[in-house]
Parts: sequence; C-alpha cells; structure tokens
Amino acid sequence: MEVQKPIVVSGIQPSGDLHLGNYLGAIRHWVKLQNEFPCFFFIADYHSLTEPFDPAKKEGQTLTIAAELMALGIDPQRCTLFVQSHVPEVTELCWILNTVTPFAFLERMTQFKDKAARQKANVNAGLFDYPVLQAADVLLYHGSLVPVGGDQIQHVELTRDLARFFNKRFGDYFPEPKPLLTEAPKLMSLTDPEKKMSKSDPGGMLALTDEPQIILQKLKRAVTDTAPEKKERSPGVSNLFLLLEHFGTSDDKLRFGREHREGTIRYSDLKTLLAERLAEHFAEFRVRRAELLRSPQKLQTILAGGAEKARTVAKATMAQVRKRIGLLVA
Ligand code: TRP
Repeated sequence: MEVQKPIVVSGIQPSGDLHLGNYLGAIRHWVKLQNEFPCFFFIADYHSLTEPFDPAKKEGQTLTIAAELMALGIDPQRCTLFVQSHVPEVTELCWILNTVTPFAFLERMTQFKDKAARQKANVNAGLFDYPVLQAADVLLYHGSLVPVGGDQIQHVELTRDLARFFNKRFGDYFPEPKPLLTEAPKLMSLTDPEKKMSKSDPGGMLALTDEPQIILQKLKRAVTDTAPEKKERSPGVSNLFLLLEHFGTSDDKLRFGREHREGTIRYSDLKTLLAERLAEHFAEFRVRRAELLRSPQKLQTILAGGAEKARTVAKATMAQVRKRIGLLVA
C-alpha cells in the first residue's frame, strides 16, 4: 500500500503589505513545504473580517497578497493556492464544528483575549469563533500538518480537540492535525527595539516592497548602542545581527561578529551592508510583484483555478460530514 503523505494546510490574512516578519516566519517555509507535501495555502479573508477593515480596500488587499505570495515563490502549479471565501463550504464546516466546541475552550484562547483587549469597540462573535473557523480550514482539506508560528499553537491544539470530539460523536473521520512549528525569528522594531516589528509602526518595519533607498533610510535610523565596545548586545544591535544572520553572506557574519567582539564595529557599516543585502534579496520579488499586479485578470484566473481544486475536496468532505451527522440529503 502506498503511504499517503501528510497534507499541509496554512493561511495568511490579507491585511496590508507583507513585511519581513511574515516572510521569515511563514512564507519562506511554505515555499519549501510545497516541494515536499501536498499543500493547501490560502488567503484568510473571512478571518480578516473579524478585525477592523475598510470594505473598499479588501479586494485590492486580497489580490496584492496573492501577487506577493507568488512573487515570493509560492507556485500555484505545486500547491493549491486560493482565497478562503472562494470555498464557502468552510463556513458550513465551521458551523458544524461550533456544535461540538465547548464555549469554555474558546474563552481560554489567548489570541482572542489579546485582540478583544486591543479592539474593545469591536469584540464581535466572529472574533470569538475565529479558532473554530481556523479548525474548519484545516479539517476541510484533511490537513494533518499545520505550519504556524508559536502564537498559533493553541489554535492547532483546539483543532485537534475538535477533530477528536467530532470523531467521537460521529465516527472516526478527521485526522488530528499537528502543528509544524516553523522557525520564526523575532524581529524587533528598528526604532523601538523593545517592541516587535509590526505594521502599526511603519518607520520601524521593513516591508518587502520597500525600495533600496527606503530600506537604507529605515536602517540608518535604527537604534543601536552608543558604546560599541559593550560586550552585551543591546536589543537594537541584536536585531541587526538577526538580520545579518538571515541575509548576510558567511563572510559578512564572520567580519561583523569579529568586529563586534573586538569592539571595532561601526554600526553605520553594518547598516549599509544590511541595506544592500536586503535590497538584493528582494529585488526579484519587487519586479515579479509589480508584473503580477499589472494583470489582475490573470491573477484572478490563477486563484479561480486554486479554488476549484480546493472546492472539489471541500465538497467531498462536506458530503461525508452531512451523511455522518444525519442531515437529510437535499
Ligand atoms: N490564524 C492564522 C494567523 O493569523 C491564519 C490562519 C487562518 C491559519 N486559518 C488558518 C493558519 C489555518 C493555519 C491554518 O496566522
């Protein structure tokens, strides 16, 4: 018997341009995974409705992130790339999973508590139910490996619980997925290196679309040490070394590691070098992104192809699920 490869499922919300953290934490891992496993990657637009958003911008954001994923190497020939809402079956599965989800489990979700505290004026039921929709995303495609960063582990654990509860109630059907904890280097804000790099602080963040001169400008303003001979690396300096680790050549790393140890390092040199390496690393990305965005019609066609593949699986799953539950066939 042929051993089936685990199915990988992961999603990303469409909200603004991708930044370096998205790339290092998620997308570069997806690009590798698509060569090893059957992968379902999607743009989680339903999820993104639980946070404040501008309806006039949603469509553009979805197309942009699709272009960005492809420009980074997500290949719709190798994986199933689609928009979550193009497969509305996921909301049906979400509803059914809701009925086996203990309310108390959702109350424990730390991401819900964090977001509820952050968006006090908009603590909607969708935000509370977010993890159940996420579980539906994975189970709909029989996913058993879910590449995520540490902040999503609790949601994958919940997905396992819900698969088990469903199976116990309606008979063995869903595999219990495992998180694939991918390395997610903790990039800090360039201007305030005690805080995580995030979209909410554009000056301290490196967007993948930043042009070389912007990258240089942002890096030049990055906080470093005042006393270069200090042996302990300050958060700002550690952050620059983290970038060096990922984007520098081995010679670069040796050179600046040595200069730091010897106390001869000039942070302006390190910044200029990093700016060059980053600009170069994402040069092709910027060109491909612009190219893809020039033909939105073509992008739409690619996404429609992905949705069709995903939907075939989704429909089969839902037919099985309805039967197991005992819903009357239409
Ligand atoms: N919640 C995930 C995040 O914010 C995005 C996501 C939605 C997801 N559905 C998913 C990730 C299913 C993995 C599997 O990062």
